[in-house]
Amino acid sequence: MTMDLLIPDKVHDETRQGEALILEPVGKQNGRKLYIESYGCAMNFSDSEIVASILAEKGFETTSDFNNADVIFINTCSIRENAEVRVRNRLKEFAGAKFRNPGMVVGVLGCMAERLKAKFLEEEKLVDVVVGPDAYRDLPNLIEQVDGGQRAVNVLLSREETYADISPVRLNSNGINAFVSIMRGCDNMCSFCVVPFTRGRERSRDAHSVVAECKDLFDKGYREVTLLGQNVDSYKWSGQLAEGAEPLAVGDEITVVNFANLLEMVALVSPDLRVRFSTSHPKDITDEVLHTIAQYENICNYIHLPVQSGNSRILDIMNRTYDRDWYINRIDAIRRIIPGCAISTDVITGFCTETDEEHNDTVSMMDYVKYDFAYMFKYSERPGTLAAKRYADDIPEEIKQKRLAQIVAKQQEYSFYRMQARIGKVEKVLIEGFSKKSDKDYCGRSDQNAMVIFPVSENYKPGQYVNVLVERTTSATLIGTIVE
Ligand code: 5AD
Ligand code: SF4
Repeated sequence: MTMDLLIPDKVHDETRQGEALILEPVGKQNGRKLYIESYGCAMNFSDSEIVASILAEKGFETTSDFNNADVIFINTCSIRENAEVRVRNRLKEFAGAKFRNPGMVVGVLGCMAERLKAKFLEEEKLVDVVVGPDAYRDLPNLIEQVDGGQRAVNVLLSREETYADISPVRLNSNGINAFVSIMRGCDNMCSFCVVPFTRGRERSRDAHSVVAECKDLFDKGYREVTLLGQNVDSYKWSGQLAEGAEPLAVGDEITVVNFANLLEMVALVSPDLRVRFSTSHPKDITDEVLHTIAQYENICNYIHLPVQSGNSRILDIMNRTYDRDWYINRIDAIRRIIPGCAISTDVITGFCTETDEEHNDTVSMMDYVKYDFAYMFKYSERPGTLAAKRYADDIPEEIKQKRLAQIVAKQQEYSFYRMQARIGKVEKVLIEGFSKKSDKDYCGRSDQNAMVIFPVSENYKPGQYVNVLVERTTSATLIGTIVE
């Protein structure tokens, strides 16, 4: 298997293997067991928590073994072809369990469900129910329909649905970090991207409900929230102050809240609550947002700013609506307003008609920015997208692969360079738990989102902040000791 990405993290690793999710039933138990597995971006994992909440209300218990389940849900990703291939293979693995238990309900949720709609039922005989990202409230009805002997589909997209009132069940949580969805959908029409088709129009969630969810998380002991949206910089919510609600930091009766305002409101929940966010868009990230990040110590100095290509002609046919100079201007603004801010990116190699010279512009962009991390992909044509309609996928696989290998090697150098630059520095780390390799070590993240490993101290527990002196590094991890 070829890996087409480097240094996965929780937010962007849409190739991450599915994780089974466990939840506590909140309503009266109905004696049925649910198994839910998620693939794709953080948004999908966050959506599975909403699905879990909706079904827990109906009394479903969960199981971590799909063989024991009465309902299996697989929350899917469509972003590249290989994400879909992985889901199809996984469905084959569910076939045996369904054969042994014919009453079992198998459901496909998320982006693939939305892309393929009822066609999924024709293609995959095993599947009983197909549900798009805006239709999860309908799941209990759809399960009932299947119980009644029908197969069921709901792939309606909505202009309003934000699940704002649903309090997500935190699945497989460490009790310290949580995702908080602040908007859904995407109105950018990047020509390579299937997301506007699978997740519909952009809509922002009620700012009050975002702040309330973050407060609630903090009260329950969580110490880091990651605000999620396809394009957080275009967050915009205007609404009436609910009766009895606290006025917003920016507020009159009619309150318009932009992303900078929302960041500030969440940062004010507590100085001990770290605030992260993803994903920023180069065309929309404003100096106001950068100044807000600079102003609050608890808003992390880490920005994921996908460039996709360093060449202006390619950016134009990708319909990214910025060019190379604009992107460089945004990088310069970040460096000026938030010195020391970590920056990561997404890159696509071998987009339609890309020449070697144009590819070299991407390489030179990497030299200019020296990204802390990058997620790098070969272009994968997606049916129905603008690029699929307008341009031939004409770059041979070997050339895509060669260009990808070149930028992966380059990024490894820069990741190492950025890591090395931290040696001798003291990092404020939020302890997340024991390191994967040893329970003699703790792990946690620095403000700039680097993973830090250091020996356990009895004086500190997960969920607390410590200062760690960095002594050495690997290409992906800082290693050090606690300093008081
Ligand atoms: N092919 C390859 N990579 C893609 N991405 C989105 N669509 C495609 C595609 N068709 C990448 C972009 C995006 C990230 C989430 O996935 O780099 O920022
Ligand atoms: Fe997430 Fe996009 Fe994949 Fe859908 S297609 S799961 S939005 S990465």
